[in-house]
This record gives sequence, C-alpha cells and structure tokens, in this order.
Amino acid sequence: MKEEVDPAVEILAWYDRHHRDLPWRISPAARAAGERPDPYRVWLSEVMLQQTTVAAVTGYFLRFTERWPTVDALATAESEAVMAAWAGLGYYARARNLHRCAKTVAAERGGVFPDTEDGLRTLPGVGTYTAAAIAAIAFDRPATVVDGNVERVMARLYAEETPMPAAKPRLRRRAEELSPPWRPGDYAQAVMDLGATVCTPRKPACAICPWRPRCRASRTGIAEMLPRKVPKAAKPVRRGFAYLAIDPAGAVMTVRRPETGLLGGMLALPSGVWTEATAVTPTPPCSADWQEAGEVRHTFTHFHLRLTVLWAPVARIETGARAGADAAAAMPTVFAKACRLGLSAAAKARPPSSGAGRDHAAPPTA
Ligand code: ADE
Repeated sequence: MKEEVDPAVEILAWYDRHHRDLPWRISPAARAAGERPDPYRVWLSEVMLQQTTVAAVTGYFLRFTERWPTVDALATAESEAVMAAWAGLGYYARARNLHRCAKTVAAERGGVFPDTEDGLRTLPGVGTYTAAAIAAIAFDRPATVVDGNVERVMARLYAEETPMPAAKPRLRRRAEELSPPWRPGDYAQAVMDLGATVCTPRKPACAICPWRPRCRASRTGIAEMLPRKVPKAAKPVRRGFAYLAIDPAGAVMTVRRPETGLLGGMLALPSGVWTEATAVTPTPPCSADWQEAGEVRHTFTHFHLRLTVLWAPVARIETGARAGADAAAAMPTVFAKACRLGLSAAAKARPPSSGAGRDHAAPPTA
C-alpha cells in the first residue's frame, strides 16, 4: 500500500527549491545550518506586509533598516521621521503602533522581543497574525499563521464553498490541522510564498503546484473561483479640495493631520471636509489668487476620494512651510499626488525665472 506523505513535507520540499529571496528572510539552507533571523527585521517586515505586497514593501524595509538598524534605534527616532519614512505605505495607524511597539520593546524589555505568541501579542500593534508570524519565523515556534494568501490556499485545497468572511474560522481550522510541529518558520513562509507566487488570486499556476494532486478545487476546475466572496457594496464617492499655497522660494504650506482618524498624524496639505455631496464650496486656508490645477483620485478602504487641487502664489507662509518636493515625499499618497499636481501647474503658469521675470516689474521705458 502506498504510504500517505504529509502535505507539509511536500510544500517544504517545494519551498527548499523555490522560496523567494527576501531581505528579511533566512534561506531554508541557512536556517538548517543554524542561522536565525533577526526578530526586529521579522517584526518590521510582518507589520509592513499587512495589507501590502512584498514588491511594495521591499524598498521601505531596506530604507528603514538602513536608517534604524535595531529596535533601539527605531525607538529613539522622532515620530515625524518615522511617519515620513512610512509615507506611501498606507494604513498609517500601523506606523504609529510600530513606533510605540519599538519604544515598548526598548524601554521595557531591553530591546529584546518576546519569543512566544502570547508574549508577542502583548505588544502594541501586534495581533493574532503578527504574533503567530514572528513566533514561527523568528523563533521557530509551532504557530498557525493565517493571512489572505493562506486563506486562499486552504479554500482551494479543501474546495471550501462558504463565502468570505464567514469561511474564516473553517479555513483557520484547516490551516491548523496542516501546520507541522517541525520547521514552523519555513512552513509558514512556504504557504505564504505558495499563495503569492503559485496559488494566486487570478490565473493560479496549478500545473506547477506541489499540492496539485491533493487540491480539491484544482481537480474540479474551480480554483480560480475560490475563495467565494459576498459581493461588496459599491464604495461612495467623497469630494473635497486640497490647497497648495506656494511662497516665492518654492516652499508650500503644510499641516499635520490630527493623531486620530484617517491618515492620522501624517503631514498633509490643508484640505477642508470631504463630503458625499456633489457640490462642494472651497474653504481655502488663506485669501489668495487660487487657481485650479486639476483633480486627484484616490481610493481608501471605505470610499473613493476626488480632490480638486487649488494652488496660489503667496508672499509668506506663516506655519508649516516646507520645500515643495520634500513635502510631497513625506506625505501619504493622496496628498503627494495633490502636491505634485499643484507644483506642476504652478511651474507651468510661472516658469522658473532666470531674472527675465523681473523685467516685467521694471517701469515701462516708453
Ligand atoms: N507575506 C507576509 N509575510 C510573509 C512572509 N514572511 N513571507 C512571504 N510572504 C509573506
């Protein structure tokens, strides 16, 4: 009789050959040779990877670890510097919690991360997923790591027809049953890599999947349809204005958003209320000759935003003056887009002068 091979053995053999080389990852060969990942790098990467792809995160991860190579270094950073370095990654509450967590680990734990799921869950911003991922990857603790990739793999492997999110507890149970007590760190990363590179949301590459022979959805040709989802309600559209006041030196007016709420604590352009009403009246932050630069569109979790960008030359900026390009780089994507659009409209309206502009101010000669 043919002996049943443990599914974990199959996926680990696949991972040994096809794992991705990621800057926070210890390869399976290095791990087998006794090398251990740096818990700080694992924690940082896992917080960054929530809701975001490896491709989007890698540059941020490299810049963060170059600038703040240890949790103690990150703990002593200025909050504004951390928020600016995070700008563009989205979900900004994560950045604030990241900094709070670094301070907690540095001040209360001598810079050492807890090495159990329970201990990790006591840290700011570390929930079920992150605690399990760090426990498994950094400390090789048996822990079931369930993210969107893992849910998709389980839904297909077991042809789970219950739509999301109701299927979540069943998919977690499936993931728990499959998680082996050996090589927990490699196994967790193997399933996530499989979900990201083979068992992809669209057009899964079933032909090269190590679990194909046991995958119920692949067998019946429904892999691409799973996990099933209840259709989402259409997101409402909100409208508003963003204001770019530019002084003669090219500095722009900026504000810091309130700590709580959307884009909390981030550098931004002045921008009034955003509303679902179709007619919105501008409420500029100062009186000036405001001109329209165009519209930027951005989608948040719960709504689409359309911001009309107004720009104006001003003689002086009272508070929050920042060089235009630096300001855009430190802002969340929607305001960075608005800032660049306004700067480019201003540059077209008033090309940088080489002194020629001053001629217009000279008294007419005739
Ligand atoms: N997605 C989130 N964390 C990951 C990891 N450690 N490896 C691969 N993909 C991931």
